[in-house]
Formats: sequence, structure tokens, C-alpha cells
Amino acid sequence: MPPKVVSVGDVVETLRGFESEPFTRDRILDFLSGVEVERASLEPYAHFSPDRYTRNLVHADDVFELMVLCWQPGQRTPIHSHNGQLGWMVTVRGALAVVEYKYVGCNAPQNQQVSGLDCLAGATEIHLDRGPVHECAPGGPVATVDKTHTIHQVVVQGREPAVSLHLYSRPIESCVAYDLKQRRCWRRQLSFHSRYGQVVAEVETPPAAPVPGRRELPVIR
Ligand SMILES: [Fe+2]
Repeated sequence: MPPKVVSVGDVVETLRGFESEPFTRDRILDFLSGVEVERASLEPYAHFSPDRYTRNLVHADDVFELMVLCWQPGQRTPIHSHNGQLGWMVTVRGALAVVEYKYVGCNAPQNQQVSGLDCLAGATEIHLDRGPVHECAPGGPVATVDKTHTIHQVVVQGREPAVSLHLYSRPIESCVAYDLKQRRCWRRQLSFHSRYGQVVAEVETPPAAPVPGRRELPVIR
């Protein structure tokens, strides 16, 4: 059956209607796999930056947050975790690749024993295994993160800008980022380039490189 064309506002309304029951990966995956989001309805949230990909908030409540990410060629996320949340990604324009990673071990595993977070981070010897790569394009499958596949990196493919719609449940304000060259990880504070269509920070300073031995929360959009 061809996907039903809906606006991003329709997506929000449907998801709010789902909130009376638990958000499961497959329930939301079924819904998102059956719709095509009108690109015109995403225009208010399409803000690009030459410096880094942008996160543009469409809706947030206690159960989920929905955002539009805008990517220029060459842009990518750091390798990062999702703090135990579930996530669904629909590529609306361009091409993206999701590279999965698996935690193998680190020299600060005690930092995972913390309430309300997946990990405090701060390891200086981190071991991750690189996993499969998922190619994502408009009309392709919805990519997901879940409790067993929680670490990944998203990378723009090709020379065209990309736009993707990301749904997360529950909302989080930070996650763990990994630097495999330095074999370090740290908590990464998340923020938005725009909220509800309004740009909230046009000028931003690049994130500071993490300094070994110091706990930092670099702000990366
Ligand atoms: Fe992610």
C-alpha cells in the first residue's frame, strides 16, 4: 500500500493520541513506516548551518520529542549513545548513513551505575566494536535506536544537503559521546538551533575539544 501523505502537524497529533499506551519501538515504527511526511510542512523547521548539522524542535512533551535535523554535505554526529531512549529516524531529503557501534568495555564501568542516566561517562580507555551500516534515503526504511542498539553515528552521504525527522521517547537533554581516536567518552549536552520554528541561537561557538582528565559538558548542536 502506498504511504499516506501527512503533514508534520498530523504526525504530532497522531503521536499524541498514542500517548495513552506505552510507546513501543514497533508500534511507532508501524505508524511511521506507513506515512510520507510532506516536505512543505517541514519548511518552518529547515534551518541549515555551515558549521554543523542543526537540531530543530517541532514538539516536546513528557513522552516524546520530535525534531527536524538539517545536514550539509560532510556533516556528521559524533559517535553517541541515546541514554536508553527509543528513537526513530525518517530521511526526508538527501542520503544519510547510520553506523552502529557496540560497547565492549571501558576503564570506568562503575559510571554506568547511576540513576536516571545510561552512564556518567568519563572513561579514558573505551572499546567499541563497529557494527553494520544502514543507508537511509527518502522512501526507505525507518531507522531506529533502542535499548539494545543504542550507540551510533549519523553521517551525510554524497554532496546534497539532507533533512531527517527524528522522534525520541522519552526526551533527553544529554547523552554520551565517544572519541575513538582518544578512546575517551564524555557527556554531551544537547540543544536546539530552533524551537517551534524560531531560531534560538544563530551564532555559536564550536565545542571545546575534551581535555583528558577533566569532566566537561561541551555543547554541540
Ligand atoms: Fe542518534
